[in-house]
Amino acid sequence: MGIKSVLFTVMAASALMVSAKPLTVSSPDNSISLKFDTDKGIAQYSVERNGKTILNPSRLGIDIKDGVDFSEGFSVARSSQDSHSETWRPVWGEEAEIADNYNELRVTLAQKKLAPGRTLDIVFRVFNDGIGFRYEFPRQKDLGDFTIMNELTEFAFADNHTTWSIPAEGYRFYEALFRELPLDSMGYVSTPVTLRASDGTHMALHQANLTDYAAMNVEATPGSNTLRARLTPWMNGDAVYVTNVRVSPWRTLIIADNAGNMALSRIMLNLNEPCAIENAEEFCKPQRYIGVWWCYHMKTATWEAGENHGATTENVKRYMDFAARHNFGGVLVEGWNHDWATWDFSFTRPYEDFDIAEINRYGREKGVALIGHHETGGKLANYERQMADGMKLYKDNGMHYVKTGYVGDLLDDKERHSSQFGVRHYRKVIETAAAHNLAIDNHEPVMPTGLQRTYPNLMTQEGVRGQEWDAWCPEGGNPPSHTVTLPFTRGLAGPMDFTPVTFRFENPVMPQTHVNTTLAKQLALFVILYSPLQMASDEIENYEANPGPFQFVCDCPTDWERTVFPEAEIGKYITTARKEKGGDSWFVGSATGDEARVANINLAFLDPGCTYRATIYRDGENANYDTDPYPVIIEQKDVTSDMALNIPQGRSGGCAIKLTKLSK
Ligand code: NOJ
Repeated sequence: MGIKSVLFTVMAASALMVSAKPLTVSSPDNSISLKFDTDKGIAQYSVERNGKTILNPSRLGIDIKDGVDFSEGFSVARSSQDSHSETWRPVWGEEAEIADNYNELRVTLAQKKLAPGRTLDIVFRVFNDGIGFRYEFPRQKDLGDFTIMNELTEFAFADNHTTWSIPAEGYRFYEALFRELPLDSMGYVSTPVTLRASDGTHMALHQANLTDYAAMNVEATPGSNTLRARLTPWMNGDAVYVTNVRVSPWRTLIIADNAGNMALSRIMLNLNEPCAIENAEEFCKPQRYIGVWWCYHMKTATWEAGENHGATTENVKRYMDFAARHNFGGVLVEGWNHDWATWDFSFTRPYEDFDIAEINRYGREKGVALIGHHETGGKLANYERQMADGMKLYKDNGMHYVKTGYVGDLLDDKERHSSQFGVRHYRKVIETAAAHNLAIDNHEPVMPTGLQRTYPNLMTQEGVRGQEWDAWCPEGGNPPSHTVTLPFTRGLAGPMDFTPVTFRFENPVMPQTHVNTTLAKQLALFVILYSPLQMASDEIENYEANPGPFQFVCDCPTDWERTVFPEAEIGKYITTARKEKGGDSWFVGSATGDEARVANINLAFLDPGCTYRATIYRDGENANYDTDPYPVIIEQKDVTSDMALNIPQGRSGGCAIKLTKLSK
C-alpha cells in the first residue's frame, strides 16, 4: 500500500439537532468557517476566513432529467459532524508526508413536499487551507439510477477578483494559455481557476476524485462575482449517468495567504482515496527520461518507418547509451508501431526495424527503461479492443511505463475528452495498466483531479501547453510568462509532462517559433514544473554539445522530501526549492517572466547551523530570451540558512542551484 504511516485518526460523529439555524463547521485551526442553511427551500453555503467573507451564500443543487429536481424545496432532515487527523505518505510526490486534517459536516436534505421519501446528502470538509464538498446520492426506494443534466452549484465570491483560467471548450483547450482577467470577464472556463483578492489572499477552485462523472467547468457572468458550475455533457446533452458510483467529485476551494502556500495545499490529494495498488512502489518509480521525440518536431526523423525513421533499434540503443552515461532512467520511444502513416494504430505490431525484445534486453543491461507509447488518435474503440494485448506485450518485455495519447477534437469522433464518456475510458486505462504493472504518462487527458493518490501508476499527464508548442505553434512559441504562471494554475491539478530543457533555441522548421527563455531558465524549469517522470526533451546531440549546464539536469532528482516557495508572484517570477527524498541536498529553480530581475532567494529552508555548497547555474552577462539565450555562468559558493542569494536574471531568465550539505 502507498500509505506507510497513519499517525492517528479521530472520527467523532455526533448527531445534531435539526434546526433552522445555519449549520457551521470550522477548520481545525478555526481560521476558516463554512455555514450551511436552506433559504425558502434553496440549499446554500457560505465561507469565511479570519472573519472575512470568501463566499457569500452560494446555491447548491442538481438538475435531474425527467422527474423532480434536486434543486429546491429542501429542508435539513439530519446532520452530523466528524473530525479527521492523519499523516500519510504518497508513493511519490512533492513531499514525503502529507497531513490530512479536517472537520466534516454531513447534511441530509429532504424534499418533503416535492419528493417525500427521497434524500440528498452533501458532505463538507473544512481544512486549514480550504474547503471541499460533494453530493452523495445513496441508493434508496425513490432514487435508483438517474441522469444529471447539470449542477446548480455556485461559488459567490466576495469581489471581482483577479483570475487566471483557460476556456472550457474548443480544440485542445487544455493547452490554452492561462488568461489573467477580472472574475466576471472569464466566460466559460475549465478548472482549476486561480483567484487573487485585493488583500493578497490566493484561492483556487477545482475538483478532486473525478471517477464516474463529467468534469466541472464554471461560467462567469459580466457584472456578477458568482461562478456557476456547468458539467461537460455527452453529445446528446446529458451530463452524468448515475449508476454504481453514487457520489459527485469533490468541489474544492483552496484559500491561502499567498501564491506559494496555495500551491502547497494538498486538499485535492486528501480528497482522493488511499492507494489501491499494493505493489505500486515496485514499478511507479520516479525517473528522469529522454526520448526519441524532439527529433520528430524538428523533423530530423519521422514517426513512420522509412529512410529517416526515428524508432530504429540502432537509434534507440544510441539514446539508451546516452541515458546510461548521464544517469537517466528512461528513454521514451514514439513511432515504434504500425501504422503512423495512416494513424490506424496497432498496439502489438512493431515496425520491422524496431526489435522490441532486443531493445529491452539492451536497456536492462544498461539500467535504462524503455518507455512505450500508445498514441490512439482519439480512436477509443480501436484502442480498447487492443489495450490489454498492447499492455501485455509491454509486460512480457519487462516494461513498466507507457505514454498514452488522444490527439483529436473528439473521442471516437463523438464525445469530449472531459465528458463522463472520456472519464470512464481514462479510468479503464489506469486500471488495466495497473494490472500489467505499467505506469502512465497520459497526454490529451481529462484535467487531473488527484487520482494519483489512489493510482500512483498515473504518474504524469499533459493537459498543459507544453514545450512542443515552441516547436510548431504559429504564434511564435510560449510567452515568457507562461512557465511562471503554470505552477499556480494547471500545476495545482497535479504533475505536468511539460517536457522542458531545450538547449538549442534555433528552430529550423519554423524559424519564427522557438523556446522563449534563456538556457539557465530551462534548467530551472526542471525543478519548477513538477513531474515525477521528468523529461529532458531536446535531442541528445544538443546536450552533448553543452555538458556543463547539462550536469544540473543529470544530478536533479524527480522525487521529493519537501517543497517550499521562497518567493513567487503569478506570471511574474517564482523560486521553488525542493529537498531530495532520502538525501540532504536541495535543488532550487528560480525563473522570471518578461522582466529581468534580481531573484532574492532566502535560504531559511536549509538546516540551521549547517554549511552547504551551492553550485549555481545562472544567466551569463546579457543573457536574455530575445537576444542571446545561451550564456550560463556556473559558480560555487558556501552558504548557510541565515543567508539569501541575490541572483540576476535576464528577460525570461533564471537560475538552477544544487545545494550539497557539507557539515552537520
Ligand atoms: C501530441 C503529444 O503531446 C506529443 O507528445 C506526441 O508526440 C504527439 N501527440 C504524437 O503522439
